[in-house]
Formats: sequence, C-alpha cells, structure tokens
Amino acid sequence: MKAIQVGLLGIGVVGSGTYNVLSRNQQEIVRRAGREIRISMVADLNVERAKSLVGDDVQVVSDARAVIANPDIDIVIELIGGYGIAKTLVLEAIAAGKHVVTANKALLAVHGTEIFAAASARGVMVAFEAAVAGGIPIIKALREGLTANRIEWIAGIINGTTNFILSEMRDKNLDFEVVLKEAQRLGYAEADPTFDIEGVDAAHKATLMSAIAFGIPVQFDKAYVEGITKLSATDIRYAEQLGYRIKLLGITKKSSAGVELRVHPCLIPAKRLIANVEGAMNAVLVQGDAVGSTMYYGKGAGSEPTASAVIADLVDVTRLHTADPLNRVPHLAFQPHAMSDQSILPMDQVRTSYYLRLRVADETGVLARVTGILAQAGISIDAVLQREADDTSESTAPGEVAQTDVIILTHECLEADMNQAIALMQALPTVLGPITRIRKEELA
Ligand code: HSE
Repeated sequence: MKAIQVGLLGIGVVGSGTYNVLSRNQQEIVRRAGREIRISMVADLNVERAKSLVGDDVQVVSDARAVIANPDIDIVIELIGGYGIAKTLVLEAIAAGKHVVTANKALLAVHGTEIFAAASARGVMVAFEAAVAGGIPIIKALREGLTANRIEWIAGIINGTTNFILSEMRDKNLDFEVVLKEAQRLGYAEADPTFDIEGVDAAHKATLMSAIAFGIPVQFDKAYVEGITKLSATDIRYAEQLGYRIKLLGITKKSSAGVELRVHPCLIPAKRLIANVEGAMNAVLVQGDAVGSTMYYGKGAGSEPTASAVIADLVDVTRLHTADPLNRVPHLAFQPHAMSDQSILPMDQVRTSYYLRLRVADETGVLARVTGILAQAGISIDAVLQREADDTSESTAPGEVAQTDVIILTHECLEADMNQAIALMQALPTVLGPITRIRKEELA
C-alpha cells in the first residue's frame, strides 16, 4: 500500500525526535499501522539545519505553506508552537483537507473550539496526544480507555519544570529563586520560564483534559491559575512535618455545582503514589466511577518521549483516515452534538481544604483570636502546629517582639469563606506578615 505522506512544520527538538524515531522504528510502525508512514517534506526557517537532520529523500523548504499546498501530503504535523502563525497554518492545513497532528497545547486550549469545528466541517482529524504530558498516553486513556466511566476528577503533575524545582526545593531546603537559577543553568528551565512557573503551561494541559473528561468546550479563560513563585522552603518543610508534599497540580473535577478547573500548588499526603513523583517526571491520576483510581506516569517532555506521542497520533490517523468521519473517535471524546455547556466554577465557589501559615507575635490569646475567626466563618480545623520562627525577615513588628509560626490545616470549606477569614486574620495586629495559604487535596 502507498505510504502515508507526512509534512512536518518545524524541526526542533520534538520534530527531530519524531523523524528519528519514525526512521528507527519504521518496521514496527508499519506492522502496526498497516502501511509506511513517511515524513516526505519539512518546513523550517533554518533550511540548512533542517537538511542536516533528515535524509536526502526529504524535501526541505522554508515556507510552511508549500507543505500545506502539496497535494501528496496527507498529514501535517505542527510543531511550531504558540497561538500566532501556528493557528493560521493549522486552519489552512484543515481547509486544504489535511489531517493535523500537533503538540501545541496553548493553541488548542485557547482556540480549540474554532479548530475542532473547522476540522469537523472539513472531515479531517486533529490529533494532540503530545500536547498533554508528553509521552504519557493520557489523551488516549481518557478518550478511549476510560470511555465506560463517568470521570469524577483528574489531578496531574503536568509540568516537569515546576516539579523539578519543587523536588529540588524539598531535597535541598532551598528557596524558589535559588533553584530556578540552578534549573536554568542546567537547562531544565527555559530562559523565559514564565509559562511554566506561573502555571500557564499546566493550565493549558488541564483545560484539554477537562474538555475530554467532561465533554465540555475548552475553557482556558475560565481556569484558575496560580504558579509556584511564591512558595517558600519553609512551607515545604512544615508540610513535610505534617505528612504532606507540595506539588503543582492541574485539577479538574465535576461536582453538582459545576466543573472545577484549577492549577495551583497543593499539599497532598506524602503516602500517595503521586506525591512521590520527583524531578521532571509527570503523572496524572484519573478517578472514574467504574474503574476507580488510575494513574499514568512518565516523561512529560523531551525529544523522543514527545515524539512517541506524535507518532502514536500518526498511526491513529493512518488507521482511521479512510473511515467515515462520523465513525472516528471524536476530537473531544464526546460526539459534537452531545457536548455540554456546563460552566467552569469561579474559584471562590470551589470547595477544598487548606494549609495556612501565619507569622504571629508570640502573645497570650493570639491562637484563640485566629481560631475564633475560622470558627465564625464555619471553617473546621483539622490540625495545628506551632513552631518557633527560624527566620524573622517577614516581621513587620517593631522592636524585639517574639515571633512564632502557626500552621493550620483545615477541613474542606468554600474558597469564598476562606478568603473572608484570611482577610480578617490578616487585619489582626498580632499577625506580623502576609498569611500563606496553600490548598490541600487528599486525592483519596
Ligand atoms: N515546559 C513543559 C514542562 C513541557 O516543563 O513540562 C512542555 O509542555
């Protein structure tokens, strides 16, 4: 059978990995796909470099539109990234009747609705396994493997850079800024790490998983996003003493009130498997009503791990491209007419539990006033820890006032109630620095 012809837009780290793995494992891939999958055209602005990465039989051009215009190309792989030219090219490829494989989480989380609608109208597939958690086949698992289930929630470590930073902070008892510099020096973090450390990259991925899990449109604009830049080694240490680890989690959960979609640092019990995912590794926990809890672990980034996901999509498209479009796996797992418009809950309507740390003056009655405010707000306390402050730099109190850290774990309550309680506690004259609040999930 004639080979499937693939055009690659952008041959950077993932693109070259895709070319190499496809060449190296061609025989195994043909046995699975039923025919050869061949990258026959590459577009990259750096033509000379691109030529040095591929064989002589691959046509290398600088103009991506030449790939899209080539009638022999069946599938276009978009590995340019971002929402700019990548969006235009993906829409042009769809309009030209090409199937698209992309690793571009930002593009799909923000413009997915428009892109999937265009693809459905044109009868082509847009596959994006590589967009979430790199080499972990989490899209496949959610969209197909768990299709019998009502998904209840998903919680994932879906950004390797931040997980690496948090692991180092815990291991070496270092603060965020110090570890970030080291991570940049070692090449683990980008020169501009904003999307990673501010939680945006994780939120893009959580948005895609949320849409597939619950059959709702992608709603990145409604996600609550908080990164790890304000975390201190002190909180990581106190969390440890209470039996918890702090991880940046992407969470999506369905409740009777709506769908939660949030990314933020989170205390999770140290005994959970996912709490022990260290370094740049990723892991996703999915809770389904029939299957119970399932966990997926692996490399969330890197050349060949991400290529593994890109090629899995190429094989899927190869197998299904002659199928009636209505009989293919729907882009977002649910049939387009069966999508729900259930809204994403605003963060203040989310219920979760909390870790609070207050730097207070070590005076009679301080704890009573703090716990009194929580009681007034109907917030139940789970545990309290008091520790002598080992660093008084946060003090705003004059003179020699003795200071102590009060750490409180609460039971579940409404975020709006917690916001109000924090504002009242913060106003107490005996609270000497900004209150630290980190959400907590038991993931049971
Ligand atoms: N920068 C991401 C990470 C990988 O650190 O996990 C690509 O999404």
